Amino acid sequence: MLEHLTGQDDEASVAITPLRRDRFKEWLAGQSQAQRNWIETNGFTAEPGSVCLLPTAKGKPERILFGLDDSDPWCWAQLPAKLAKGFYRIDGDLDGRTAGWAAMGWELGCYQFTRYRGRNGRDWPVLSWPVAADRPQVVRTVDAITLVRDLINTPAADLGPEELTAAAAGIAERKGGRIRTIVGEALLQENYPAIHAVGRASTRPPRLIDLRWGDEAAPKLTLVGKGVCFDSGGLDLKSSSNMKLMKKDMGGAAMALGLAWMIMDAGLPLRLRVLIPAVDNAVAGNAVRPLDVLRTRKGLSVEVGNTDAEGRLVLADALAEADHEKPALLLDLATLTGAARTALGPDLPALFTADEALAAEISAAAAAESDPVWRLPLWKPYRRLLDSKVADLTNASDSPHAGAIVAALFLQEFVSPATRWAHFDVFGWNPTPRPGRPEGGEATALRALYQVIAQRFGAAEGNPG
Ligand code: BES
Ligand code: MN
Ligand code: ZN
Repeated sequence: MLEHLTGQDDEASVAITPLRRDRFKEWLAGQSQAQRNWIETNGFTAEPGSVCLLPTAKGKPERILFGLDDSDPWCWAQLPAKLAKGFYRIDGDLDGRTAGWAAMGWELGCYQFTRYRGRNGRDWPVLSWPVAADRPQVVRTVDAITLVRDLINTPAADLGPEELTAAAAGIAERKGGRIRTIVGEALLQENYPAIHAVGRASTRPPRLIDLRWGDEAAPKLTLVGKGVCFDSGGLDLKSSSNMKLMKKDMGGAAMALGLAWMIMDAGLPLRLRVLIPAVDNAVAGNAVRPLDVLRTRKGLSVEVGNTDAEGRLVLADALAEADHEKPALLLDLATLTGAARTALGPDLPALFTADEALAAEISAAAAAESDPVWRLPLWKPYRRLLDSKVADLTNASDSPHAGAIVAALFLQEFVSPATRWAHFDVFGWNPTPRPGRPEGGEATALRALYQVIAQRFGAAEGNPG
């Protein structure tokens, strides 16, 4: 159920006519002289996102003209804020993809993070479901994106490792998944030393969240998400400007949960596992120190070059556990480096994989979904930047170069070469608001990854919804 889409035809709904700029002239020629005058007077030229209201003789809205760029899923998100409260329908033949984007854009055009101050007095318009839209797919996509954004937007005080666990448990419960959590000292007994080390300085103990769903005999997909609920930098403390946004450092975990939600909701025929190391990177007397040497689950020793490179430490243990099961596909999502953002900006997640076929599938799905990712190389020669004089590797080199690649190479040490693996270094945040994408938490690569998974593992029969 989406709040701003309705399945009921409302007699009084106002028609929206989507018009592509390249077809506008032709369309205009077919209209009455009076309408052409009105449209011209209003300066409407079907510029993408622009709107022109055609009135009836009595001055009521008769029709809304909407400039459409059908290559942009977010074009539709401009509409709700530009239209008055009331009911609308789309008048015009949209293909399935465009209809789905219209519905998704409309609903996300109404998205607000309401936890702390409600809906701010806005009465959004309601759209009749576009005919060709795959409704269950739109609903699960919007639900997943909303989940991811809400989790990221929630302040760290209200979303610690325990609350992140509760969120995962809530999702598992609604979809028949099982959840197991290893908390605090138990992480040491069960051999997750790096997760424990990174998280032990917080009053909120570290956890490993382990969600399983689906038929044990089906092909295995494992998602790993970085769940650093707040990244202060540890003892190598971040500057205030760099620390400010670090409630979003569990963005990878949020995206893994959003993707898991879509997979479970669609009933894809696969065995899903989600592993989330959930920690605070905090400062206290027992915090990890620079040049401490940590053991990891895999047995590799890691010298801590910088306590702020904590994401790769917790992911090392989670990836080693994920890899151990030999999943058919292993994906991790993490707000891992500032360097990825420097290279690609906030909208483009960096993709790393040694598997050419997988890279091609992901790129194709990203293009088809207009949900972009950009591949960066796992450039082996830079592995030397992780050499340590006292341990098997260091978590942070002294070199200022290629930070995102070096971080990815660090993770690769914990995944066996035989495992089909892709790593996404995501930003998880919109610094500048755009229609449908307000400032705040954001899910990237989610729609693309769902398509890759649905194609690889084969969609289930029917739609359990
Ligand atoms: N969570 C940060 C990465 C980050 C910073 C993502 C800003 C998005 C925006 C991560 O834990 C971190 O601090 N990485 C360091 C690594 C460095 C110390 C080797 C970084 O990128 O500066
Ligand atoms: Mn950090
Ligand atoms: Zn971090």
